[in-house]
Amino acid sequence: MVLRVGMLFVCLVLMTLTADARSGVFDLTKYKPGGDIAQALLAAWKEACASPTPSKVLIPGGKYTLGAAELLGPCKAPIELQVEGKVMAPAQPKGESWVTFQRIDGLTLSGKGSFNGQGHIAWASNNCHKNPACKGFPINLRFNFVNNAMIKDVTSEESKTFHVNVLGCKNITFQNFKIVAPAESPNTDGIHIGRSEGVHIIDSNIATGDDCISIGDGAKQVHVQGVTCGPGHGISIGSLGKYDNEEPVAGIFVKHCTLKNTDNGVRIKSWPAMKGGSASDIHFEDIVMDNVLNPVIVDQEYCPWNQCSKNAPSKVKLSKISFKNIRGTSKTPEAVKIICSSGFPCQDLELSNINLKYTGNQGPAKSVCKNVKPKITGTLNPPGCH
Ligand SMILES: *[C@@H]1O[C@H](CO)[C@@H](O)[C@H](O)[C@H]1NC(C)=O
Repeated sequence: MVLRVGMLFVCLVLMTLTADARSGVFDLTKYKPGGDIAQALLAAWKEACASPTPSKVLIPGGKYTLGAAELLGPCKAPIELQVEGKVMAPAQPKGESWVTFQRIDGLTLSGKGSFNGQGHIAWASNNCHKNPACKGFPINLRFNFVNNAMIKDVTSEESKTFHVNVLGCKNITFQNFKIVAPAESPNTDGIHIGRSEGVHIIDSNIATGDDCISIGDGAKQVHVQGVTCGPGHGISIGSLGKYDNEEPVAGIFVKHCTLKNTDNGVRIKSWPAMKGGSASDIHFEDIVMDNVLNPVIVDQEYCPWNQCSKNAPSKVKLSKISFKNIRGTSKTPEAVKIICSSGFPCQDLELSNINLKYTGNQGPAKSVCKNVKPKITGTLNPPGCH
């Protein structure tokens, strides 16, 4: 078996790994705590990746420091990284990635362990909302061009910026995945998806400072189910229409989710004036809102920090959108806010069985619509939009 070679290499050269050639498990147990496991992890990964039979790299229980790690494919057979330990990033921000999985077909990331980005230092110096030339911070976990992947049970904590970035992936599932960061941590989006197809986020819990799940251009067939978000900014499509050549967003299904104490519930946002683009076939169903600022919101005048001109309408086309069976409580009187583009009014938008109770005392609650003629079926509470 090829893993013999890996075992010798790893044990003799690094003295930090044990490999069980028969089961294809590379175990970092012999590693002495306190230092950086990057070298040991990369060596084990390289050997496992070269194995013609399925293999596993194991980070056992314990606390470890890991510098930036690029876990690259293609591998000869499916590969698993099982993390049982608490893996800590270097405290000082460096580069734009911490742990990257790239060009792998058949990846499993599993275990009860965690990736802790030690974000507090980065958060204090983050001025990216005001300074477009700000330097980026490392993302906890990047999945670049990874196909047929399962990410289960692990936790991402305290990322310096986004926790997870999914780019160019096909058939990738996050299940029983956990994200933890405080409400006031800036730019700490939970899972950002761009230019990927067949993304499933199931039975997961995301508490963070920015979007729970953000869906960018080129995302297709994204299924979010049984996810609890909060604190954070909710589940968001966009923002779209800021850059040239954005790919369409199509086929987004968000079901059986709960949003607790978030700024937004379910949202679609695009920039006014700037670039074109489209989002279609987007469905939110069976969603519980618990004390959410803007539970249902389409905002085609999204322009934070005045980074754009609001004088021209958004060029992003929105169509085939539904909000169904949405109930719970709103912290603002405008519980439903559908603000579409005057240049490209929303097409084929449905509001069905919406029951949101305003918990404050700033006048009567209402639903507000602009540049859209929604199809309303069942209840629409608060009323409006006709
Ligand atoms: C999707 O990926 C999973 C691994 O998570 C695999 O078991 C499954 O067969 C893949 N589905 C397709 C259609 O390739």
